[in-house]
Amino acid sequence: MTMPLTRREAAPAKLNLTLHVTGRRPDGYHLLDSLVVFLELGDVVTVAPGPLSLSLTGPFAQGLAAEPDNLCLRAARLAGREARITLEKNLPVASGIGGGSADAAAVLRALDARPERLEMLGADVPACLASRPVRMQGLGEILTPLPALPPLHVVLVNPGAAMSTPAVFKALGQRDNPPMPKHLPDFTNAEALVDFLRDCRNDLEAPAIALMPRIANCLAAIRDTDALLARMSGSGATCFGLFASAADAKAARDRILGTNPDWWVAASGLAPAKV
Ligand code: C5P
Repeated sequence: MTMPLTRREAAPAKLNLTLHVTGRRPDGYHLLDSLVVFLELGDVVTVAPGPLSLSLTGPFAQGLAAEPDNLCLRAARLAGREARITLEKNLPVASGIGGGSADAAAVLRALDARPERLEMLGADVPACLASRPVRMQGLGEILTPLPALPPLHVVLVNPGAAMSTPAVFKALGQRDNPPMPKHLPDFTNAEALVDFLRDCRNDLEAPAIALMPRIANCLAAIRDTDALLARMSGSGATCFGLFASAADAKAARDRILGTNPDWWVAASGLAPAKV
């Protein structure tokens, strides 16, 4: 099969349904235990033949314009490949939903490249390359695929400010928190999954709120709807609500946006798994 000249790849948003910080290595990196899923919503990467370059489009392109070394370019360089890359940036930048890692993974998928030492690009890149529901452990490089999940309906809420991941890890009070149970139950339906998630945590939520109190307002706005669960993703600032149906999720999105027109609020289902 010949390679198409131009390839378009979805870069689905990543959501940490749980994020337990279970330890810290001597080099300062943290050990994680996290359930990660991917959403329909995301950025879009296009690669075409040509010398290495990057063009930015989309509603959040401006947030990346000043960044000298975008992860898309670093991914292509790590793979030793030239390509004209276009990134449609639909997700807010530095917001805990994996944008940069998802973009880097999409570039590698589009180039059919699987360089070694992927984690050099970012802790979330191996999970984003898998782009299917996983349990993520270690620094992010130990991945265990999750059995089929019930359909999830999600609302994402971001207060409109970028968050520094290193700053959140630095502000973490306790670094040796309990992991998730060794054996995960079968998540046969949404109720079983939500019950399990309620007993889990995002350990980065408290330090992120201490750095950016508006995150607590996002969580309160989600809790003020029919959400089955409200939590922050990654190191924030994006928070999410889980809903029983797409209609509930859309109603919650409209309600939150109605009272907070300056926030970024989006409803989404889960992404179909990549093979
Ligand atoms: O890998 P990523 O670029 O997302 O990491 C950003 C920063 O977050 C790292 O430089 C590190 O300070 C912190 N981090 C960590 N432990 C991890 C992942 C990230 O301490 N497992």
